[in-house]
Amino acid sequence: MKKAFMSVATIILVLCSFIFSSCTSSPKGLASFDPQVKELLEKMTLEEKIGQMTQPEQDQVLSNPGDMQKYFIGSVLSGGNSDPAEGNSLEAWTDLYDRVQEEGMKTGLKIPVLYGIDAVHGHSNVLGAVMFPHNIALGCTRDAELVEEIGRITAKEMRATGIPWTFGPCVTVPQDIRWGRTYEGFSEDPAIVRYLGKAAVLGLQGSDLSNPLSVLACAKHYVGDGGTTATTDPRPGFPAGPEGRLWLDQGDTEMDEAALRRIHLPGYIAAIEAGVGSIMPSYSTWNGVRCSASKRLLTEILKEELGFEGFLISDYNAIYQIDPKNAKKSIMISINAGMDMAMVPSGYRDFFNDLKELVEEGKVPMSRIDDAVTRILRVKFALGLMDESRSQKADRSLHRDFGSSEHRALAREAIRKSVVLLKNDNQTLPISKEVARIHVSGKSADNIGNQCGGWTILWQGKTGNVTPGGATVLEAVKAAVSTNTKVTYSLDGMGADGATLGIAVIGELPYAEGIGDRADLSLDAQDIAVVNNLKSAGIPVVVLVISGRPLIVNEILPQADALLAAFLPGTEGQGITDVLFGDYNPTGKLSFSWPKSNDQLPLNINMPEVDYDPLFPFGHGLSY
Ligand code: GLC
Repeated sequence: MKKAFMSVATIILVLCSFIFSSCTSSPKGLASFDPQVKELLEKMTLEEKIGQMTQPEQDQVLSNPGDMQKYFIGSVLSGGNSDPAEGNSLEAWTDLYDRVQEEGMKTGLKIPVLYGIDAVHGHSNVLGAVMFPHNIALGCTRDAELVEEIGRITAKEMRATGIPWTFGPCVTVPQDIRWGRTYEGFSEDPAIVRYLGKAAVLGLQGSDLSNPLSVLACAKHYVGDGGTTATTDPRPGFPAGPEGRLWLDQGDTEMDEAALRRIHLPGYIAAIEAGVGSIMPSYSTWNGVRCSASKRLLTEILKEELGFEGFLISDYNAIYQIDPKNAKKSIMISINAGMDMAMVPSGYRDFFNDLKELVEEGKVPMSRIDDAVTRILRVKFALGLMDESRSQKADRSLHRDFGSSEHRALAREAIRKSVVLLKNDNQTLPISKEVARIHVSGKSADNIGNQCGGWTILWQGKTGNVTPGGATVLEAVKAAVSTNTKVTYSLDGMGADGATLGIAVIGELPYAEGIGDRADLSLDAQDIAVVNNLKSAGIPVVVLVISGRPLIVNEILPQADALLAAFLPGTEGQGITDVLFGDYNPTGKLSFSWPKSNDQLPLNINMPEVDYDPLFPFGHGLSY
């Protein structure tokens, strides 16, 4: 009997241990690489360690022959507008990547260089890449699987150029849509940001960072970048701007820690759960303290409490905002607070020398340097960069699928699922493909640059034919209709007389960061005129808004028989016409509240004290 009892007990014990281990076994954590890291760290001089913490712009350091070796540079970036000297092409980017690796391998320890870029809606710096919808549109899909797949394809197109690190996903939770970076956020709702942010990291990094098709993700901007208080006080160091110019970007997030955790932290918790290898602290301040200077935020909460095992990369010269009059003091404060790598585009030499002095003066302990370098090297080992059996060169066989029709089909699906049908009187939509004539008008009717918005080829993006591939709305309408249907176009809405119906494609021109901070979100006069001109032809009018955020549309609402929001859909305009012509029954739901007037702003679902009375509420979206 006893024997039988023992065997049952053994089985239970084994089962319990199995269940326990499967519940607690996290993906292979970055700290699991510490044995290899420790062995390398012990060989490194102080200069070699500081070099790993120094990230210049590629063009800055490469234009100073020998600097990659002299400063033991461990990472470079291409920020906005930092293209290969040979021009913007898949080949030129790939050649640039290979050259950076060659330069990096000339140092004694031959530690490969970690190259970072803002591939924030596809590999968006590179001509011919598929430009996916920006996060504001993806938030309207509520589709984590789709977002993960977009991450996977973005990683694949990045790896075609060799680059293995993107400064994304942005897991900001914008609370005031007057902020120029609203469109980089999935939603005003922390819960949506949490699960879509996690999906984005999983898509980019995959289940194994060493997979040649995986890339390192970077959750940003930690923390509360989207919760700053709007002000008209001139921002120090920035051009004053016209009277009443509004500032939100890089501003101050005024709230207690409980509110900060409730609204702005969820995306980072999810990203860490997904194994994110890097996080970028925000330019902004929390109750007056620069995030880049906050030991509470960078070390106590992120590294100690949440167990983040990767490394912190500063924003672009963000460290120097800590004390604009004293660069060396700023470096000391930020590194001691927990910053691990400094994005110092042109001032990399001074950073290197200042930090070296700080360590020699005992103002930055070697233990802090070793922790920072350990974190950086963990990621390089996890990425497989340190695997000597692997070439550090880009895999040019991936050029075959770069910008491919399969990748574009995914972007088209994402657009279909992101378009929000806000109004549809008299079943104006869907449009028959057999109607006699459709007149298409507006600033964004035939404009890939407006469809893509900021962070596209150029930092600020660019209106017009900013990149090849894809289709404008006008091109997509022409491709969708039958041969019996005539499609005509005017920029201003004139010439619609006799058409079956008109389509007005209006909204915003591209912008990025604080350049997009706006006090007045009203439609511009040109857009209002387009809708009125179409309506004066006595025909049904479909209005499609292409913008980085909800806009004040009251002026044209009565004239719009149907109204849709596509936000910033990217290159594949057919995703929009799939909805317009009913090939896809719209499912998009607003991920931001749509206000009636500027006076209501800020307006979002996290403000119980405010009378919530938007034109279209968070979650609104009609179907056919
Ligand atoms: C910018 C942005 C950040 C970006 C970085 C590199 O200033 O704030 O989102 O990743 O610089 O381009």
